[in-house]
Amino acid sequence: MISADAARDFQLTRVPPEFLDDPYPWYAALRRHDPVHELDGGGVFLARYEDAIAVYRSPHASSDKKAEFRPKLGDSPLYEHHTTSLVFNDPPLHTRVRRVIMGAVNQKAIARMEPNVARLVDVLLAEMAEKREVNFIDEFAAQIPIEVIGNLLDIPRAERSPLRGWSVAILSGLEPKLTPQMLEAGNRAVTEFVEYLKVLVAERRRQPGDYESDVLTRLIQGEKDGEKLSEKELYHQCIFLLNAGHETTTNLIGNGLWALLNNPEELARLRAEPALVPSAIEEMLRYDGPIQLNNRRLTAPMTLSGKALPVGTLITIGIGAANHDPDQFPDPERFDVARKPNRHVAFGQGDHVCVGMNVARMEGRIAFTRLLARFPRIELAGEPERDRRIRFRGFRKLPLRVG
Ligand code: HEM
Repeated sequence: MISADAARDFQLTRVPPEFLDDPYPWYAALRRHDPVHELDGGGVFLARYEDAIAVYRSPHASSDKKAEFRPKLGDSPLYEHHTTSLVFNDPPLHTRVRRVIMGAVNQKAIARMEPNVARLVDVLLAEMAEKREVNFIDEFAAQIPIEVIGNLLDIPRAERSPLRGWSVAILSGLEPKLTPQMLEAGNRAVTEFVEYLKVLVAERRRQPGDYESDVLTRLIQGEKDGEKLSEKELYHQCIFLLNAGHETTTNLIGNGLWALLNNPEELARLRAEPALVPSAIEEMLRYDGPIQLNNRRLTAPMTLSGKALPVGTLITIGIGAANHDPDQFPDPERFDVARKPNRHVAFGQGDHVCVGMNVARMEGRIAFTRLLARFPRIELAGEPERDRRIRFRGFRKLPLRVG
């Protein structure tokens, strides 16, 4: 049990090593002892579900990150990227870009993607069956979103290999504590990615794709009667989209499998009742979600859990903490593949709620349905290696033996 004093001393910039393995006892202590917890350098960490929802839904919580990122990232490619992408902007840029992307990831578009995802998953499973021992992350979980997002922007298959490395390096620039190496790698990744996109965009302008299904063509052409994106805006929305859909979905599949392996009775239940896969995916997202933190800045005063916060307060929403709040989720530390209701905030809430949530759900559903049907035996074949970050939660290695 983590004490009230230890909770009050908690800082995202110097978390104890055990936090990286299991942050949930810390979140529980914060919810109990200090739910609107002050962070070094200003700002607060929200640990309760109700407070998280209030901020997500507030019209006075800005997503614009220029003031926050300038001192951290300087005048750099990373700064340009993160302050141009839709997720860290308010209207009007946010509204304009969001509408253009939404049209390509509606239910009809997702249904069109499904057969291709199922085919890919079957190929990956056949390869796993042959090898018997694999790193589940590299050889399965990461392969699915690369295919899906690569297709969404219609990036030629032969050119997809650097995407995952760029994505990890760029998103690492958002961690609460940054090393010079992380900054350097992130800046290099943005520069290389933009260079790559210049060529891709020029080709797509010459030869546009299908406006209904090709997000890059949609972003280039903009809304039918609307304003076009500038060249810079265009590149950074593409980079964001690739990043947003890659690592997150990889980690949904990796963290989800880890939860099943650690809860064998729930795994057995899912095997016996595959119709539970969709609710199991929601529980994976709640129980150990890929994104643990979101940020907002208050543009009007707000009171949360009795604490008055002034204009300008930087808010860190604890997604994992909110998703384990017993006031919203009975017995929150239990992994229950049939949990209902399950109104988790793994995809955020409000105006910026994840555009790709149904794409991710479809990928998860197909991956787990086919994986469990194919292998009656799935077990750990070595030490898993966590990706030791705070905002993004997942594994680098998850060695598995299947049969
Ligand atoms: C399990 C996988 C995923 C998780 C956990 C996840 C989570 C999130 C969260 C928490 C946000 C809100 C950020 C905020 O409010 O500040 C978000 C936004 C976003 N996500 Fe996802 N995401 C996932 C997959 C995807 C996929 C597959 C795509 C693309 C196909 C995608 C595209 C986006 C976009 C474009 C936004 C920005 C929306 C906006 O600012 O209006 N995400 N995601």
